[in-house]
Amino acid sequence: MAEKLAIVGGDRIVPEDFIKPWPYLTEDDREAVQAVLATERITEQQRIQAEGLAQEWAKYMGVKYCIPVNSGTAALHMCVAGVGIEPGDEVIIPAFTFWATAAAVLHHNAIPVFVDIDPNTYCIDPDLIEAKITERTRAILPVHIHGMPAEMNRILEIAQRHDLSVIEDVAQAHGAQYHGRLCGSFGDAAAYSTQASKTLSSGCQGGLFTTDDELIHQRAGLLQYFGEIVVPGQERESQEYNAYGLGWMYRGDMFSQALIRSQLKRLDQNNMLRVENCRFLTQHLSQIPGLETPLVPEECNPVYYNYVIGFDPKALGLNISAGELRQKVQATLRAEGVPTGQWQRLPVPSQEIFQNRIGYGKGCPWQCTNSTVEYNLNDYPCATDFIASHCYVFDVNPPNDQGLMSLYVEAFHKVMDNLDLVLDAELN
Ligand SMILES: Cc1ncc(COP(=O)(O)O)c(C=O)c1O
Repeated sequence: MAEKLAIVGGDRIVPEDFIKPWPYLTEDDREAVQAVLATERITEQQRIQAEGLAQEWAKYMGVKYCIPVNSGTAALHMCVAGVGIEPGDEVIIPAFTFWATAAAVLHHNAIPVFVDIDPNTYCIDPDLIEAKITERTRAILPVHIHGMPAEMNRILEIAQRHDLSVIEDVAQAHGAQYHGRLCGSFGDAAAYSTQASKTLSSGCQGGLFTTDDELIHQRAGLLQYFGEIVVPGQERESQEYNAYGLGWMYRGDMFSQALIRSQLKRLDQNNMLRVENCRFLTQHLSQIPGLETPLVPEECNPVYYNYVIGFDPKALGLNISAGELRQKVQATLRAEGVPTGQWQRLPVPSQEIFQNRIGYGKGCPWQCTNSTVEYNLNDYPCATDFIASHCYVFDVNPPNDQGLMSLYVEAFHKVMDNLDLVLDAELN
């Protein structure tokens, strides 16, 4: 028998304080932020940092326009407004994502329509999209979830056939590639989050909007600044104080932008190190019966925002649910010092706001646009199964390296070799 499990008093495999946090900051990152503070005319930095980041991200993505903003959700809302979505229009999105993807649609008085996910990539299933298209559909909004590219060729082809816009949610996939091309460069517009945990991290909140289209850029720019036209850096002198439409205040802040600009220089390198860590995990964990490691289609180069692991009790001859096996193994792994966890606990359409059509009151936007869209829980079996049977292994980010990944593998072996004890353990 293997050594004693930590959950029953044995030594843990991953020592305390061994794991390095994300984002991983260098002296250059610190100096970049300090340089903003060190300037005498600090308000000028707002324009300088925003313009610098806009140019650098547009160049990285190979697109014409970028607007740095204060969250990924704001950037998504700008995409929705940018492509010309109007009240009551329907936007097709995956049933498994962070619900901000759907919130950005509701923010514009439009209606999210959910499609189940592909059981292999966990991105929207292109085979199920057309059944959800109605005369009100205006856009498809795929999410490159966990850093895995959605099947863009199929999605673009469906969109073209039905004359729909495509908005990409790249909140979790900076630098991921599909057929050798960057996620975010396929659709009409794209939104990226730079929230603390993301692969391009501000350490706090932030987002980026991109497009190649001048009109989409103009509309998004208006929405971002109170619906007004302003020349950055000349807010007082040239501002008309004339709102051309409803707008919000979505500008990003200069300190986090300075940090992102510095981190952007290492984005590809950090992605490469994370990918190496995750490939190492897959190589070793795929040998353990009962575990399912991520499947990577040939045309995809994911960046593994999260490392996803699945549980298959049938492969072990166990007559328990995948959810029960997952919870017990997770609890035992955590005791061994392996940070595992879940993220979304419900498919988005199963959340209260959709089940009770709460929206922003009086049943709107559904009620006030005469929407007949329904959110039936049985329509999303793959999203529901995915949530029950999978969890994430966290802290696969650099500077953690194969030293830590080897300990993760060792802990998985220890736990899976002691399954009888693991299944007997009381969950607290
Ligand atoms: C898939 C997805 N979409 C959108 C968002 C929203 O980004 P933010 O938190 O920056 O508003 C997130 C981030 O948490 C996300 O994971």
